[in-house]
Amino acid sequence: MDKSATIIILYTREQIEATVKRLAGEITRDYADKNPLLVGILKGSFMFMADLIRQLDFPLEIEFVRVSSYGKKKQSSGKITVVQGIRTHVKNRHVLVVEDIIDSGLSVNYVLESLRNKKSASLKACCLLDKPARRQVTVPIDYTGLTVPDKFLVGYGLDWAEQYRNLPDICYLEDVKP
Ligand code: IMP
Ligand code: MG
Repeated sequence: MDKSATIIILYTREQIEATVKRLAGEITRDYADKNPLLVGILKGSFMFMADLIRQLDFPLEIEFVRVSSYGKKKQSSGKITVVQGIRTHVKNRHVLVVEDIIDSGLSVNYVLESLRNKKSASLKACCLLDKPARRQVTVPIDYTGLTVPDKFLVGYGLDWAEQYRNLPDICYLEDVKP
């Protein structure tokens, strides 16, 4: 861990919990009778997915895809690498892509496009955090948790160079040289 990093809390665990509950309410209204397939984008979404589905009291399934675009940098490389693709059939399923944070939009756009022609019954996206400042592609987001400032965030699943995912609050780093 970078010892020079100053970690500042932006959203507390209580704020995160309230946001997840609100999103779960919206998703429940739309999916309670649809046995949806929630597709989390790894690694960042694992904690959000775990908390979200525990607030969803109806039949559902989960799947994960793993994409990578950052490497050890704080800015997207712009090139998406699929590390693990989806293994579940999506035909006739109501698919909801679950993302931790949308920044350039390239990752979620890539995953949505890869699912687009697979004859799903519906295809929507949900993100906990939306960082619109550096969006490169327009992505339709159907459920948004919090709109966040243009800072590099860590914690609650989000990493910087694979560190800090375990922080229970969402924080930003000051004084870190990428
Ligand atoms: P995008 O492709 O630029 O939209 O970035 C999406 C992915 O990059 C997310 O799934 C995150 O894993 C990661 N990411 C984007 N912004 C941040 C950040 O502020 N902190 C940590 N990871 C981020
Ligand atoms: Mg990441």
